[in-house]
Amino acid sequence: MIPVLIDCDPGIDDTLALIYLAALHHLGEIELVGVTTTAGNTTATQAAGNARWVLAQLLIDAPVLPGRPRPRHVELTTTPETHGPTGLGYLEVPEAPETPGGDWAEVWRGAVDKHADLRLIVTGPLSNLAAFQQTHPEHYARLGNITVMGGAVNYRGNTTPTAEWNFWVDPHAAAEVFEDPPAASIRLCSLEVTEQFLIDPARLGALVDSLGATPVAGYLADILRFYFEFHRAQGEGYQAQIHDLLTCMIALGTIPYEDVSTTIAVEADSPLLRGTSVADLRGHWDRPHNARLVTSADVEAAHSELARAAGALAVLWAIR
Ligand code: RIB
Ligand code: CA
Repeated sequence: MIPVLIDCDPGIDDTLALIYLAALHHLGEIELVGVTTTAGNTTATQAAGNARWVLAQLLIDAPVLPGRPRPRHVELTTTPETHGPTGLGYLEVPEAPETPGGDWAEVWRGAVDKHADLRLIVTGPLSNLAAFQQTHPEHYARLGNITVMGGAVNYRGNTTPTAEWNFWVDPHAAAEVFEDPPAASIRLCSLEVTEQFLIDPARLGALVDSLGATPVAGYLADILRFYFEFHRAQGEGYQAQIHDLLTCMIALGTIPYEDVSTTIAVEADSPLLRGTSVADLRGHWDRPHNARLVTSADVEAAHSELARAAGALAVLWAIR
């Protein structure tokens, strides 16, 4: 059973990622050891409330704690225009279960101490990962398997002409993490791959049907409709790019994908190029490799994998 810690900013596609991880947890394929939240799509506190609400619906009792409230060097920018006023599209989360006290970094430290094979998945800005590098350098160095959703690598951005949202929100965190990565390379799922994983109303209808009596199923239309409208307004069609769910499947190796070892750098201070990520694919910099850049993923396999997970939740709720 793979121990998984996810640092996320639910956020609509993060929410689908949490539903997927909950299914694999119930299947006994992973152990979701903790969820921490970072500020990006919404505030870290709101994201924690959203995550707690989704996981409570799915009977997952992993610790859920908000992480750093804002980037260290730039003002926090959230994106209600993309993910809705509270991060779940048109859904206002019914009162989320109370936030238990606790320190998010203690969840990370404990997970590193307990699980040598811990998989850390980051689907929001890298503020927590960069903070952990500062406050717990020994444990940070022991993070042996990290997958990040972020960056537009040698590809157009979704936030500026060259920057992807997660890296733009906290560019210094992204720059610091790739400047001084943990022992292992960071598996990077960037826009040029994650934008290919699309859910449209027909696929959403099939997902809701697959979920059967699973509690969250009834809320997905309100959550995703906001995201469909946002993508249509961006000229992407009435559909949604589900970046973070694809990232989780890649992190767990549940779908085929290809990657290449390279050196990634992120610009932090340039006003125009803030958050821009570049891969030295030809070795010009002669610097040590710090990442495995995902170059392709089987998105049809990802749709089948999502259906498998949804079916597992449906069976669980059918026999309860
Ligand atoms: O740019 C896409 C990323 O930004 C995804 O993680 C999405 O949830 C938003 O956080
Ligand atoms: Ca996210």
